[in-house]
Order: sequence, then C-alpha cells, then structure tokens
Amino acid sequence: MREVAIVGAKTTEFGELWEQSLRDIVVEAGVGAIEDAGISGEDIDMMYVGNMSGGKFIEQEHLGALIADYSGLAKGLNVASTRVEAACASGGLALRQAIQAVASGYSNVAIAAGAEKMTDIDGSGVTDALAAAADREWEGIQGATFPGIYAMIARMHMEKYGTTSEQLAAVAVKNHANGINNPIAQFKSKLTIEQVLKSIMVSDPLHILDCSPVSDGAAAVIVVPADEAHKYTDTPIYIKASAQASDTIALHDRRDITTLDASVAAGKRAYEMAGLAPKDIDFVEVHDCFTIAEICAIEDLGFFEKGQGGPASLAGETALNAKISVNPSGGLKSTGHPVGATGVKQAVEAVHQLRGEAGKRQVDGAKYGMTHNVGGSGATAVVHIFSNER
Ligand code: COA
Repeated sequence: MREVAIVGAKTTEFGELWEQSLRDIVVEAGVGAIEDAGISGEDIDMMYVGNMSGGKFIEQEHLGALIADYSGLAKGLNVASTRVEAACASGGLALRQAIQAVASGYSNVAIAAGAEKMTDIDGSGVTDALAAAADREWEGIQGATFPGIYAMIARMHMEKYGTTSEQLAAVAVKNHANGINNPIAQFKSKLTIEQVLKSIMVSDPLHILDCSPVSDGAAAVIVVPADEAHKYTDTPIYIKASAQASDTIALHDRRDITTLDASVAAGKRAYEMAGLAPKDIDFVEVHDCFTIAEICAIEDLGFFEKGQGGPASLAGETALNAKISVNPSGGLKSTGHPVGATGVKQAVEAVHQLRGEAGKRQVDGAKYGMTHNVGGSGATAVVHIFSNER
C-alpha cells in the first residue's frame, strides 16, 4: 500500500441554499478543491461522491455519473465516478474509498466529494428520508425518527451515568461558539445553556437546540500518493489512518445503547494504524448530529472515560484549545449537516486546521487531527487521522 495525502480541499457554504441545485454545489466544491490543489480536471482519474438520498431529497439518482458530467469529467475524459452511500457517513466513506484507490495504486489523483440538498422538500419528507437510515421494519414503522432514537440513547445515558440536560446543552453552546468563527457555518450565533434548555422540545430530553439542522452543502478533497504530494503543494496533509466499522442497524439489538460499538472499533483500528493514542490527538471533528452523540463519541473514541463525557463538556474540557478541541469547526450543530457532505467537510476542516489556516478557530500547534463520521444511530462509523507531518 502507498501512503496517501490530501493536496486540495474546499467546502461550499452550508445552510439553506435555495438559489443553487445539488449539481451546482458539488461543482463549486469540486472546482474549489481542484484550484486549491493547483491541478486541472484532466489530472483526475477517479471520483467518489458521498450522497445519502438524492432519490428522496431531489428525485435524482445515478449521482456518480451526474456529478462527473456536470464537473466536466465525463464527456471526453470519461473519469470513473462512483456514488458512495452509508447514510450520514456517506461522505466519510467516499473519502475512505478515494484513499483506498490511491493507496492500492488504482488511482493517482482521486477526488472525494460529498453533497446533499435537503431543503427542497418539506420537514416531514426530510424526517422520513432520514428515517430510512434506521431499520424501517423494526424502528421506522413504529414511528421512530432520528431525534427519537437519539433521545432514547440520551435517556439511557442519563439513567446510567447521571448525564444532565445542562451537560447536553453545553455541547451545543460550545459548538455554536466555535461555529461563529467558521465562515461556512449555517448558524453563526452565540447560544447559552438557558436558551438551549428553554428551546422547544423535539423528543424528550432533546430540544431543538440539541439537534443538528436540515442543510444543503457540498465538500471535496483531492487525494494523491504521499510521495507525489509536494508536486502539488508545500502543505500536504497526510492520512495516518482510515478505519471503518459496522454495528447492528437497529438500536434494540445493541449490547449497550449508550456506546456506539462501531465508533469504538473504528477508533481502535485508526489508533492502531496510525500508532497513536487519544492523548496524541490535538483536535477531533466528531459526529454531533445530536448533543448526546458528541458525548458518546468523545467517550467511545477514548478521550474521556465512559460516563465522563457530560461532566467534561460542562467543565469546558472540550472547548477550543482546552484538554481536547472537539469540533473546532462548530460541528454538525452549528455548521449544519447536509448528510452526504458532512464526512468530507470534516476532512476539509482537518486540512485547514493542520495547515494553520483556521483563523479564530485555530487549534494551537495542531499536529494530529481526527474525524469521526457516523451513519444512522451508529450502524456505520468511519474514523480518519490526519497529520501535517509524514
Ligand atoms: N438548530 C438551531 N436552529 C434551528 C434548528 C437547529 N437544529 N432547526 C431549525 N432551527 C431554526 C430554523 O432556522 C428556524 O428559524 P427561523 O424561524 O428564525 O427561520 C426555526 O428553527 C424553525 O425551523 P424549522 O425548519 O421549521 O424547524 P423544524 O421544526 O422543521 O425542524 C428539527 C427542526 C430539529 C426537527 C430538524 O432540524 C431536524 O430534524 N434535525 C435533525 C436532523 C437529523 O436527524 N439529521 C440526521 C441525524 S442522524
């Protein structure tokens, strides 16, 4: 296997992008990543597009081909393009596919993109489309939606570990504080714990301000062999680990619903591949689709003991440049969560942080960054570790 690096990265703005279609935003991100890498479309030999539900959100399937076409990589160049789907982990998995293609020698310059356009249908349509990432026969058919499923995880976490609503709210407050400094963020607003606790209840104990929003957005990165990275840039970002794991799709079959075993397994595999431990990681972009998901993630990835994620969040240990900087981008909560794009956007944030280009949300002296992208309630987890040193 060859070592691999990222040499170009770009995201669109995240939010309600009513003036742009899915194809517009992927092209914007893709062209941005290509320009950032200083290459041309003709250099690309493989493309992976992470997308969860083009069929339900915009009535468009066959997205690998569509995006290759509208990026100018189909006609004449005939670039191999593949859509990758793993619910909200589609983007992380698209990146992993690109890494595997370059590492194996099948590709020399691959682009990994992620995109979703969620706001073209109404809220109940979105909720139903998202619920298709859970077990339709056992969960969806009973009326379970994602806020409901994560509310059950939160309730059990509270029961087992004494986690409180204030601790959950502290996650949203911290992520909004980081997101204020992220130009692409959907919500650039300061929050207080009181505001979160007073916001409308979506699924007890999760208030609306405990939830990631419904969003449009796209992101892209350019992946090349590490040996060739300096041909393109002075600041390549090296992939130290790429790991993936699965768990049962339905919550009721889990060993313990407060631990996402797929996150634990993917995290362990990533640490092993990189030869690193949680203490070595300077920042982590975790999948905070709901505030409880961030608390589970920082425990499952080994940054805090099980049950200590809530107290640590309330104590400010996950704030920018505190014990471990968690979601310096603002996370899904503040940045937004266009489901297929999120995993790639996390990688773009890692690139900006490790290049020292993150402005007011910069993690001081960042050398190792991790991304953690989850599909459904934890049936898929994808973890990457990045570094600015080879
Ligand atoms: N955080 C902050 N503000 C939010 C928000 C959020 N998560 N969701 C909506 N808002 C704001 C909107 O901007 C809007 O503000 P405005 O009136 O100033 O324009 C207002 O709240 C109402 O928005 P609306 O879109 O009508 O809310 P909704 O009730 O239809 O949807 C949720 C709210 C929480 C149900 C929806 O955001 C949701 O389903 N989130 C979870 C998405 C999800 O499950 N993703 C996959 C995870 S696995």
